[in-house]
Amino acid sequence: MNINIDNLTKSYENNKVLNDININLKNITSLAIIGPSGGGKSTLLRILAGLEKPDKGNIKINDWNILFNEKYLKTYRKNIGMLFQAYNLFPHISAIRNITLPLEEVHKINKKEAFKKAQSLLERFQLSKHSNKRPDKLSGGQKQRVAIARALALNSEFLLFDEPTSALDPELTMEVLDMINSLRKENKDLILVTHEMGFARKACEYTIFISEGKIIEHGESERIFTSPKSEELKRFLGKLFQWH
Ligand SMILES: Nc1ncnc2c1ncn2[C@@H]1O[C@H](COP(=O)(O)OP(=O)(O)O)[C@@H](O)[C@H]1O
Ligand SMILES: [Mg+2]
Repeated sequence: MNINIDNLTKSYENNKVLNDININLKNITSLAIIGPSGGGKSTLLRILAGLEKPDKGNIKINDWNILFNEKYLKTYRKNIGMLFQAYNLFPHISAIRNITLPLEEVHKINKKEAFKKAQSLLERFQLSKHSNKRPDKLSGGQKQRVAIARALALNSEFLLFDEPTSALDPELTMEVLDMINSLRKENKDLILVTHEMGFARKACEYTIFISEGKIIEHGESERIFTSPKSEELKRFLGKLFQWH
């Protein structure tokens, strides 16, 4: 995927949350966004998802030159997938229905096709035996995996994930990260906000480090984690790894 962000700024009241973000990336398949809490990662992702309007700036992802009007955003959102930390599923319907419903309602796919597609995805990700359970009968990891399966069913052009494992125990985190990693085989482009540094390093080819509303440093993940240049990134990684 190609990502081009120019002069992106976003404030809440008097608080500048994103302060002149600029980046130009070509042919990226997996992008990690890391940085301290409160730095603006989620805000950036929500803007990229067309869920929030910037104060100013231009964003182009692939052929989408994002216009922040409802008509444009409605089409745009239909074509991308977004996954949050938790609460991604409709709570009152089964796992499989969570997948078939948007296929039928939003994408106008007939019931039979939608069911077939949902079933084959659940099977592929070893979720078949949970297909008739409602979300409250699933573990956190299973819920996130169903949510990812749904995003895949919708055939999104790319996926935006905001800390999809941060509400999960370590073991469940691993099953979700494994699944996200397997998306690479699908050639599914992905932008992932994460505090899983090992995953960012090994599974994402490129990493952006954001702190206090600015991109402090970005580069190939291996380089970012092995030889950080800025004091901010060194400090951030130092703090994270002091107990490893
Ligand atoms: N809807 C909002 N209204 C007011 N302030 C917000 C809102 N969303 C985020 N913020 C503030 O913006 C800053 C960046 O938040 P966020 O993008 O969530 O950071 P991160 O995801 O890196 O932790 C924080 O100071 C947060 O309190
Ligand atoms: Mg966040």
